Amino acid sequence: MPILLESSMVQPGKFITFEGIDGAGKSTHLAWLTKFLQNRGLTVVVTREPGGTVLGERLRELLLDQRQTMHAETETLLMFAARREHLDKVILPALARGDWVVSDRYMDASFAYQGAGRGVPLRKLALLEEWVQGIFSPDLTLYFDLPAEIGKARVQSIKTADRFEVESDQFFEHVRRGYLQRAQQFQQRISVIDASLPIEQVKQNLMELIEAFYRQHGGQ
Ligand SMILES: Nc1ncnc2c1ncn2[C@@H]1O[C@H](COP(=O)(O)OP(=O)(O)OP(=O)(O)O)[C@@H](O)[C@H]1O
Ligand SMILES: [Mg+2]
Repeated sequence: MPILLESSMVQPGKFITFEGIDGAGKSTHLAWLTKFLQNRGLTVVVTREPGGTVLGERLRELLLDQRQTMHAETETLLMFAARREHLDKVILPALARGDWVVSDRYMDASFAYQGAGRGVPLRKLALLEEWVQGIFSPDLTLYFDLPAEIGKARVQSIKTADRFEVESDQFFEHVRRGYLQRAQQFQQRISVIDASLPIEQVKQNLMELIEAFYRQHGGQ
């Protein structure tokens, strides 16, 4: 029976995704959230997209390699291929065990980057979304919203640019619009966090959100 078609309601674990452009603070706050959940006795699986599996990480290398050119739809299909494997090998088994899964990017990134950023038609993305995850979806998505130029300034000094990071501020502003549109469309699931605030303030806002979510799902 395809586990993909089961509703997340029947999964004992919870699935939280982090979204946002580079430099928005995903890694910073993901580390903090993981500790928060572990301190409450939960087993947390930390993963990322593209990647998360052996095959997915190999696809990630190709997808992020600046020397590798590819059509926007090829990029899209590879992202979804990696995601299908990620669901099958990591996310769904962990949730079925009762673990909590925290992923650094997931489905919304395809709508933002390949859709709004690269211009792949949304109806094609919606078809792939339905194919790959069925009615399953994250229980909570934290979208770290940040103007492109601030994100760029934050990451410039700490790493070399990958195949996405070499894109213009304009590209990332489109990506940002794509994320905001998804947030508008899925208001129940996606929380928009102002990532331009000082780190401590972002953490405080995040903490309030997470504590409410945790209580809502049976925690103390
Ligand atoms: N609110 C903030 N104010 C100032 N600096 C921040 C803030 N949040 C994160 N940073 C800093 O910006 C840098 C990038 O943060 P981080 O690596 O968490 O971003 P990211 O969203 O994971 O980016 P990437 O997509 O490139 O992995 C880090 O040096 C981090 O300390
Ligand atoms: Mg990161």
